[in-house]
Amino acid sequence: MKEKINDSDYEEISPTAIVTAYPRIFTDIPYEKEIYKWLNTNCKTELTLYKNLAPEMEARYKLTNKLLNNSKIKQVLELASGYSSRGLIYSKKGYNYVELDLESICKNKLKLFKDINIMIPENLKILSGNALRKSSFDECEKHFNKKEPIAVINEGLLRYLTFEEKKIVAENIYNILSKHGGIWITSDVTPKKFIKSQDNALQDFNKNVSKITSRNNLNDRFENIEHIKKFFGDIGFELIEVHQFNEMKDELYSINKLNIIDDKIEKTLEDAIVVVMKIKD
Ligand SMILES: C[S@@+](CC[C@H](N)C(=O)[O-])C[C@H]1O[C@@H](n2cnc3c(N)ncnc32)[C@H](O)[C@@H]1O
Repeated sequence: MKEKINDSDYEEISPTAIVTAYPRIFTDIPYEKEIYKWLNTNCKTELTLYKNLAPEMEARYKLTNKLLNNSKIKQVLELASGYSSRGLIYSKKGYNYVELDLESICKNKLKLFKDINIMIPENLKILSGNALRKSSFDECEKHFNKKEPIAVINEGLLRYLTFEEKKIVAENIYNILSKHGGIWITSDVTPKKFIKSQDNALQDFNKNVSKITSRNNLNDRFENIEHIKKFFGDIGFELIEVHQFNEMKDELYSINKLNIIDDKIEKTLEDAIVVVMKIKD
């Protein structure tokens, strides 16, 4: 499998980064409106965009931040960071932050920051690479303090990968955490039942995502928590925390100020999760 890794196989996932960036304009997350404005002008696409995805994207983003803050770890490797503002915000707070995404996204992100007059802090690195390649992790690792732990983060990558590919990414994460210590925070293990509630809340969402990428398959989803524990446990991870998106409901601008909510959206927030893993002792 390793020799067959080809970046162009994954580039078809990249436009989904616009699908996830758009709903963040209906939140109070800094920079997101400016970022999307640039994308809308400079990346012409035929994508169907969903305002009603805002509570889910906002909850995912804020819950991930909360778990990162709780960890007190100040070095972050964010995989498949897309057009997210998190790296910029946390590097401005003094975190040592490395983002890794495919080349086209990184090129756009660097250009967009320049165009909207955002100075990239010294301690934020936006690196082109592939989360399936060990060599990309080696490049990222050069920017970390060897004595400090790392929090690896990803939101919106593993769902597009087969189980064989997920395993390769997980092994790369295992490798870097085994040297530094730290944790892995991810929303990308959300079980199958969530896809059903997402389909109920956002009609044709998954059908439209499948038009963008052939890599949006129900068979590549986890069945339940037991499946998640077993899959990552076999690689050497221990699942230490499971959090529902719902936990963030009171802190969501999209719900509390813009009232983007109904019963179906509420159900997606119950079924979606972020987990924290660490290497087994
Ligand atoms: C749904 S987007 C999520 C982006 C961002 N995390 C967010 O929440 O807005 C998926 C991202 O995965 C990236 N991606 C896909 N395959 C990748 C790979 N093999 N290595 C690194 N990034 C990858 C895409 O380029 C895209 O930015």
